[in-house]
Amino acid sequence: MSGSSQTWSASGYERNARFVSDLGAGVFDWLAPRAGERILDLGCGDGALTERIAEAGANVTGADASPDFVEAARRRGLDVHLMDGHALTFGKEFDAVFSNAALHWMTRPGEVIAGVARALKPGGRFVAEFGGHGNVAAIVTGMRAMARIHGGDAALADPWYFPTTDEYAKLLSESGFTVHEIALIPRPTLLPTGIAGWMETFRAPFFAQYGGGKREEVLSDLEDLLRPALCDDSGQWTADYVRLRVRAKLDN
Ligand code: BEZ
Repeated sequence: MSGSSQTWSASGYERNARFVSDLGAGVFDWLAPRAGERILDLGCGDGALTERIAEAGANVTGADASPDFVEAARRRGLDVHLMDGHALTFGKEFDAVFSNAALHWMTRPGEVIAGVARALKPGGRFVAEFGGHGNVAAIVTGMRAMARIHGGDAALADPWYFPTTDEYAKLLSESGFTVHEIALIPRPTLLPTGIAGWMETFRAPFFAQYGGGKREEVLSDLEDLLRPALCDDSGQWTADYVRLRVRAKLDN
């Protein structure tokens, strides 16, 4: 995965966000990897799903922009490249490009899709799931409110790319893909370590702008604001995820 000013810790990810790969079963089914196929896992993270693709008998390569993730994925014995998803260097070599929960970190989608098209053999498939329009809307609005109340850069609340299906389908067809299926899927997602754990892993740069004890005050106010919408009576937090899932084929 990649994203400006976002850094990754594989151990923090394991603690706060293992659900991301656990919830990848649906898009994995759309990929339906076959033995002997060459597949690129774009934004492979720590390689949890990449490993599943390998177990299906495919010859899988991972790519990720985070050195910590690349190291973690290589520890699983996977072939992984440290590479920015905006500048893929592969050429006509993959039967499929797969991506789970990574493309929303890549904010220049035209460059990403062009790289995917270059990487695929003619007729190759592109199967991906990532944050779609409306994803984490309550969480982002909460952070924006904190920036207003406490002062701070509201742009740090929302560094992601969450397109509509129309917008993403248009980009794909402009790059020579035929889109077979594309959908927005609401996916309320239980957060094992609450909103604080989610913020620690996914939006540390927003809180880093507050020094001293201010950071704790902002986090506590944000929790108070979001609790009625995202936390139940037992204290269980749920994030308002919306996924965009797509299956497309590069034209011959
Ligand atoms: C997501 O998987 O939808 C997501 C992850 C981190 C930040 C925002 C969204």
